[in-house]
Amino acid sequence: MSAAEELLRVEGIRKSFPGVVALDGVDFDLRRGEVHVLLGENGAGKSTLIKVLCGAHRPDGGRILAAGREVRIHGAQDAERLGIATIHQEFNLVPELTVAENIFLGRQPRRFGMIDRRRMEADAQALLQRVGLDVPPRAKVRELGIARLQMVEIAKALSLDARVLIMDEPTAVLTSEEVDKLFRIVRDLRDDGVGTVFITHHLEEIAALGDRVTVLRDGRSVGQVPAATPEDELVRLMVGRSIEQQYPRERPDPGRPLLSVRGLTRHGVFHDVSFEVRAGEVVGLAGLVGAGRTEVARAVFGADPYDAGTVDVRGESVARGDVNAAMGAGVGLVPEDRKGQGLVLDASVQENLGLVTLRSATRAGLVDLKGQRADATRVAGQLGVRMAGLDQRVRTLSGGNQQKVVIGKWLLADTQVLILDEPTRGIDVGAKVEIYQLINELTASGRAVLMISSDLPEVLGMSDRVLVMAQGRIVGELPAHEATQDAVMALAVATPNTEDEAEGSRGH
Ligand SMILES: Nc1ncnc2c1ncn2[C@@H]1O[C@H](COP(=O)(O)OP(=O)(O)OP(=O)(O)O)[C@@H](O)[C@H]1O
Ligand SMILES: [Mg+2]
Repeated sequence: MSAAEELLRVEGIRKSFPGVVALDGVDFDLRRGEVHVLLGENGAGKSTLIKVLCGAHRPDGGRILAAGREVRIHGAQDAERLGIATIHQEFNLVPELTVAENIFLGRQPRRFGMIDRRRMEADAQALLQRVGLDVPPRAKVRELGIARLQMVEIAKALSLDARVLIMDEPTAVLTSEEVDKLFRIVRDLRDDGVGTVFITHHLEEIAALGDRVTVLRDGRSVGQVPAATPEDELVRLMVGRSIEQQYPRERPDPGRPLLSVRGLTRHGVFHDVSFEVRAGEVVGLAGLVGAGRTEVARAVFGADPYDAGTVDVRGESVARGDVNAAMGAGVGLVPEDRKGQGLVLDASVQENLGLVTLRSATRAGLVDLKGQRADATRVAGQLGVRMAGLDQRVRTLSGGNQQKVVIGKWLLADTQVLILDEPTRGIDVGAKVEIYQLINELTASGRAVLMISSDLPEVLGMSDRVLVMAQGRIVGELPAHEATQDAVMALAVATPNTEDEAEGSRGH
């Protein structure tokens, strides 16, 4: 291969952190006009490799070559000079700034020494249009949902006009519509000769977008295969074994209702939502993005207020808009935004796992440290949290392992009703099955689970009943044996027959 064809090559890259070898001699290369997928389990070292390539981490050993020449990437400027743009797994936007300001942060166009706002906003508008994001350049980033944040990150990377585009799980938070848009953009860039490094845990995306795949396992590159490789073969390379049952399900007969929601309404958001979840049951909440699923979940958990209706847990009514009351009644929520709502990033794994239980673990005013540690060890083991130890700060865990900690927190607490909002986001295929098994253990012991997921096969595979929401209302209910993708989608796109709330939900 000529040097002109090869954009990047890394040879024998090593990187250790206290207690972990994250990269143990990784080889990887990227050609002009290709999409090269990096595949590996949670904690395999994908993001660490990316951070070496964008100058966020210095490797302990190995070489990096750009267009055949050895280079050092010791910071963001070095990466930018080499034409490398990166979209990180964790968002790097500044919430208090506008969309346009974030896109051009540190590179704002100037006129007579002043920031040329008009030009900046016009340029931002053009980029937003290119990624198909319908928000004004002056909108504050703080006001955007997580999928839109991701699209802003993408617009920002495009503004750099890079030759190498690195995307660390860009689709984890996107809807299928947005994924299509992103793929179109990446294909256009590929035609222009841009090389893309693409990380995903959604295996079906690999053949759809990729050219080659490099598989990382325990910090080593264990194989390089064409993107058209069958999924089961990719899984075997990635986890070192094949994964049999995708949705293991043995459910007891449902018992008495643990959660009863009646007439729940928040003006302009959701309307007259009523449902029950019984002991031993998994109820799926399906619908398009914007249908109001997350909003209902947050209201039930007390994180947001509501205008009318009631929430009962085990027959007792729960005060509205009061997270402590909901938690006290035994309700837990794994939120869709783990970084913003689920975790204390600078606390340890053990502290995060103990966040909910802390009160009950306190005996006679003293925290039962030994008991807490034993519990945390058990749950971290069940979830296969990959870490240097319970004292590791959650910020330095890999993305998927952070998600496992959010789930573990509620497993440790004596949660009766667990609400899961996109629980397997960023979780590798092997660990997903383990999470499904834990959900089954919860239901086997008589707990109730309400599950929201944009992964429709997952909702269908795990739920005993599926409730479908559209435009803030429950528009249908399907028992497991009738809940097919087609049946759910037919309900999800239906327009509820109502007059009072056309605004806010339409035009999505
Ligand atoms: N700053 C850090 N300090 C300590 N350990 C770290 C740090 N960054 C990463 N690690 C560790 O290095 C290992 C590799 O993590 P990395 O984030 O690269 O995994 P990943 O392949 O991206 O996983 P995921 O699919 O979950 O995102 C993990 O064990 C992680 O805990
Ligand atoms: Mg990662």
